[in-house]
Amino acid sequence: MQRLPVENWYDTFNGAAGDLYPGRYTREYTSLLVDIAGRVRELAECKQSLIVAHNYQFPELQEVAAEVGDSLGLSRYVARQDSPRVDFCGVWFMGETAKTIVGAKTKVYMPDKPGCSLVESIDHARVRRWKQACPDGIVISYVNTDAATKALSDYICTSRNAARVLDHAATNNPGKRILFLPDKFLGSVSIAQSEVVDGSLVDLYDGCCHVHAKIGETALEEAFDRHPHAELLIHPECGCASHCMAKVMQGNSPYQKAFFLSTEGMIRHAESSPAREFIVGTEMGMVYRLRREIPEKVFHPVSPDAVCEYMKMNTLEKLLGSLENDRIEVTVEADTADKARTAIDRMLSIH
Ligand code: 13P
Ligand code: SF4
Repeated sequence: MQRLPVENWYDTFNGAAGDLYPGRYTREYTSLLVDIAGRVRELAECKQSLIVAHNYQFPELQEVAAEVGDSLGLSRYVARQDSPRVDFCGVWFMGETAKTIVGAKTKVYMPDKPGCSLVESIDHARVRRWKQACPDGIVISYVNTDAATKALSDYICTSRNAARVLDHAATNNPGKRILFLPDKFLGSVSIAQSEVVDGSLVDLYDGCCHVHAKIGETALEEAFDRHPHAELLIHPECGCASHCMAKVMQGNSPYQKAFFLSTEGMIRHAESSPAREFIVGTEMGMVYRLRREIPEKVFHPVSPDAVCEYMKMNTLEKLLGSLENDRIEVTVEADTADKARTAIDRMLSIH
């Protein structure tokens, strides 16, 4: 994302995010943010820190970051840059994934220690029991898992490639049971999209993201009523995902205009689509990123409730605190990191 000059922050934040975060960007608060951003940039340079921010972060964090993106894309970016220090603005599992990939050569810090409801839905003992019951079974874990769960897994997947990873695992392990965890909505959409998976061989864990689970059928129908010409960009974690997929498959109007996409997939789709208007079926922060990257098109949040309070625990003030005091360093125990890295690498080798 091209950096926005700080003198434009007030107008741009109010123009592109005023409806997302009503009342947040007053003149007084925005000028405080501009001051803090100056100190953040100075310290980041002095400490040779690379700041990265997830698509769901507040606009000011997206603007001070060297790179904005999805969780896996950011980890891969960090690995390529080879910086001695990273300040990762996202949730804890993202910091852990970055640390797992970069290893000892890079220190990873975070402004806070935000959780994630998908990660919290996982019971490690339950995963171990499944592995004991199915000793030749295959465990596929979504990237939204802690390092310990990744270490128990054969493959990691993201919302971009879940169907492809399922296809690969099923093709290379014919007849074996697969445990897909933790998101049941992403799991069922991926099974429907897969070309080879026998759904009766897949055990879906029953976790979900509380932010996306709330995006149900009614929210979609109301959004289509408000914006009848818009395309729908929908994250497969949404509670309405299976219903929406069924309608897409039946060719129901207006669902021919629905596209299941990861957060980065939303950017690429919106750039290349002939449509001018889009409903964004994911967390609010993504709407700011889309409006900034593609100002000539119009983006509507699917619902004003689509806010992840974990993501929003990170603030520019806390990022400054992290750079000043090296407060929260992400560490992953070596044996766990080695096993988790094997599962991530197996995913990365699938094209
Ligand atoms: P991405 O992997 O698309 O960045 O999604 C992360 C996330 O938390 C989705 O809710
Ligand atoms: Fe986790 Fe959901 Fe927040 Fe994403 S939006 S970080 S899955 S709680």
